[in-house]
Amino acid sequence: MMKVLVVDDDAGLRLSLSQSLNLSKKFETTEAVDGLDAVEKTRKENFDVVLLDVDMPRLNGLEALKLIKENNPGQIVIIMTAFATIDHAVLAVKDGAYNYLSKPVQTDELMALIDKALQAQSLISRAAASAPVLHENGKKFVGGTQQMQKVFHIIHRLSKVDTPVLIRGPSGTGKELVAKAIHFNSARKDGKFVAINCSAIPENLFESELFGHEKGSFTGADLKKIGKFQFAEGGTLFLDEVGDLPPVMQVKLLRVLQEKVFTPVGSLREIPTNVRILAATNRPLEEMNAKGTFREDLFYRLNVIPIFLPSLAERKEDLDNLIHYFIKKFNLQHGKKIAQVSQEALRVLKKYGWPGNIRELENVIEHMFIMENSQILTMSSLPEAILAATGTILAIGRDGNWSEDDSTDDNEQVSAASESEDGEEPVAFDPSVGTALDFNLQKESFEKEFIIKALKTFKGRINQTALHANIPKKTLLRKIEKYGIHAKDYSGT
Ligand SMILES: Nc1ncnc2c1ncn2[C@@H]1O[C@H](COP(=O)(O)OP(=O)(O)OP(=O)(O)O)[C@@H](O)[C@H]1O
Ligand SMILES: [Mg+2]
Repeated sequence: MMKVLVVDDDAGLRLSLSQSLNLSKKFETTEAVDGLDAVEKTRKENFDVVLLDVDMPRLNGLEALKLIKENNPGQIVIIMTAFATIDHAVLAVKDGAYNYLSKPVQTDELMALIDKALQAQSLISRAAASAPVLHENGKKFVGGTQQMQKVFHIIHRLSKVDTPVLIRGPSGTGKELVAKAIHFNSARKDGKFVAINCSAIPENLFESELFGHEKGSFTGADLKKIGKFQFAEGGTLFLDEVGDLPPVMQVKLLRVLQEKVFTPVGSLREIPTNVRILAATNRPLEEMNAKGTFREDLFYRLNVIPIFLPSLAERKEDLDNLIHYFIKKFNLQHGKKIAQVSQEALRVLKKYGWPGNIRELENVIEHMFIMENSQILTMSSLPEAILAATGTILAIGRDGNWSEDDSTDDNEQVSAASESEDGEEPVAFDPSVGTALDFNLQKESFEKEFIIKALKTFKGRINQTALHANIPKKTLLRKIEKYGIHAKDYSGT
């Protein structure tokens, strides 16, 4: 018997739901009168499923959901919502509810949903998950945080089955990477991974793109064309931005998902297909269901097991790992030997909000690689936009006179770089060994400490420091910028 907790402040509704569930003899129900009662009961007792009303006194459904999930992240929660609170239900799904039902709840619909939820859960066991392997030149899936562990977990499980998957998350959070990970870890890995961006295809060409066309089937169709479904046969078709699929195509896709056949444009012949569908979107499909712009039946077909990717801002603990990963990647790509990011620059990177998520981080690190002259990524190579957004002001601006001075170091580095070109592999980043044995790093670390000490002694005054510490002023200014030192911080006022 499945144990179900029915949570509703309306005693009548509670009773009628409990009765109809008990009648099926598959469920044994317990009732809770509001959110607080529900939280307490789930702490004392394990339930297979929690049915949660939204609008309740003392603690509402959304707040209760958070507490229940905190206590038991694997708990299946189904939200029951009146039409007026449908927005809340959507939020709840983002917060980890399995799904929601509109009130009045139909018992058969509810039971079907519970069955599905339990099936999905049996796919997701609780052991720790390693990062899925990506069979693409050295690409790695980075994620040490709990949120990403959960994602890895689902990826592993989903790789073992053949259901459609809906991958959701803000732009640049790795939706396509997840799709690839599922494909490359599945039995279809030797088949093709074919991606199609639904927002980039003109509506009138969509059908032919997906299903192909016969010669002469429309103006311009001079040759027979194979569609993406046939191209991906035996593999995986990734429908990116699936929320932009035109309504006519939504119907056609649904048919393929249900019947596993399609018909090329201008053909009378149905072609059987063996392709796994993965879809991704950043759009609020639930709201689009309500407005009628995205078919509900297609949504449920795709959404058998959804994956939600967190924004980078929600998992800033992963920043260090991601930065190291990208440094390693760009060292290989650019033939450089950058070892790390300076503490100051790292502080700024952590302060920034990352609206473009991991894609933006990747671009910023590459920008820094290109701009940086030293072996450490410093403040001076940060893009202006990041400095501006974080309110960071570099102590000394570029004055154009340093080029002469710069060239000495540049020459040194050119020779270091050319040494690495005669067949030697660039050294991969290793935080424990690399830093201690790297002459340039040690030199830079000494320089930085020395300059700070000198600035402290001479109260942040550049001329005095240059004179007494015996550093040419130009060099001093350049190093101050390079290491992101704020001379004013040492003025002692
Ligand atoms: N966890 C991760 N570890 C390493 N690299 C990642 C990770 N997540 C994303 N990336 C990298 O970030 C970039 C953006 O990822 P991807 O294209 O998968 O995002 P997306 O969600 O599909 O973005 P969009 O919504 O803009 O299409 C890619 O280069 C990808 O390799
Ligand atoms: Mg994408």
